[in-house]
Amino acid sequence: MRKLNLNGKSVEVHSDPDTPLLWVLRCELKMTGTKFGCGVGVCGACTVHVGKDAKTSCQEKLSDIGANPVTTIEGLQGPQARALRDAWMRVDVVQCGYCQSAQLMAASALIQRNPTPSAKDIDCAMHGIICRCGTYPRIRQAILEATGQGKRT
Ligand code: FES
Ligand code: FES
Repeated sequence: MRKLNLNGKSVEVHSDPDTPLLWVLRCELKMTGTKFGCGVGVCGACTVHVGKDAKTSCQEKLSDIGANPVTTIEGLQGPQARALRDAWMRVDVVQCGYCQSAQLMAASALIQRNPTPSAKDIDCAMHGIICRCGTYPRIRQAILEATGQGKRT
């Protein structure tokens, strides 16, 4: 048994220390907001925050997390997260939705470290999260709006 600092709470987990965080979340804790795409670190669908950084949870072993706080889509909150969610709705970003937890987690990590990212900053920060539906232009627009830089319609 070990403790995981998850979404602001201390949670007991029993998975093997080598288990990827993604499977601890989805299988042990039944938190399915974080998605499984490729499992090998190339699609970004499993992105969560470890500390302040966006990380692919399929590539993070439970034993490597230590005391670092983990935030998933279920625990993403605060004014910046609200601004992102509002902009996502306004811009109507979502298509099938599969990648969108990861997109929001990556966008949130971006605006925490850069509150007014340029379109280029956004493209650079978000490029690792694949969207098969091609929602990239709307994601970019929503992040610009959420950071007070885009036109609200
Ligand atoms: S499932 Fe983790 S990067 Fe694809
Ligand atoms: S909204 Fe369908 S994969 Fe991104």
